[in-house]
Amino acid sequence: MLLAGPPLIIMAMEAEAAPVRASLGLEQAGERLHPMFPGLVWATPKVCLAVNGIDRRYGVDSIASQPAAVTTLHAIQRTSPSLVISAGTAGGFARRSGFIGEVCLANRCFFHDRRIRLKGFDRYGDGDYPVQDMSTVGTKLGFRMGTVSSGNALDAPDVDIKKMDLTETIAKDMEAAAVAWICEQFAIPFTALKVITDLIDSDKATADQFSRNFAAASERLGEAVKELIYMISNKGEINDIRT
Ligand code: ADE
Repeated sequence: MLLAGPPLIIMAMEAEAAPVRASLGLEQAGERLHPMFPGLVWATPKVCLAVNGIDRRYGVDSIASQPAAVTTLHAIQRTSPSLVISAGTAGGFARRSGFIGEVCLANRCFFHDRRIRLKGFDRYGDGDYPVQDMSTVGTKLGFRMGTVSSGNALDAPDVDIKKMDLTETIAKDMEAAAVAWICEQFAIPFTALKVITDLIDSDKATADQFSRNFAAASERLGEAVKELIYMISNKGEINDIRT
């Protein structure tokens, strides 16, 4: 497969994706990626964005790992990207100096809830997928570099927190590792860009923090994605990618 294409952004929630599309000028209608799945893609020569779409049965955004993998597979086949970015909101950790609205760029990517205590399968479960080294660009933009860890739950039982402490996770999400696994199969560079909506080690309920901070974090995500795409599209110079 020829991989000379644009960067591809993969997102789970429409309310996260709308500000990102607005910031990138992706104003056209999205196209279905596959007749049997709800994922949509906005494809241009300079940047592509795919969202998982609305679950047919439950009528909500198709969040978590399986839709992320399916959308990534279809979107890679459609757009032959040079880089895939899993973008979205995430939980952070006050004890690792995380804060609401912090922008995090991955340098490691794990699953924290695939507990398989069988020889060899434990490491398979953890993932620890290849992540593109983007520390120069990330540091230039003031993003925090660190581990993004994924699981299929919004909450975090102690056993998951222990795993995230071991990997020094700064952003806990529900998709990045699934996207990273598909990218590894295609040998396509991968990273994740996440904005913190809630602090997992706070005494406030995660869902309440998430609801309160989601809109502002999604706006910040729109700006951060644009900054990153402009930077990598213009070798360090921030210009309008639509021109
Ligand atoms: N997205 C935003 N906050 C999250 C959290 N605490 N866990 C997983 N995904 C999230």
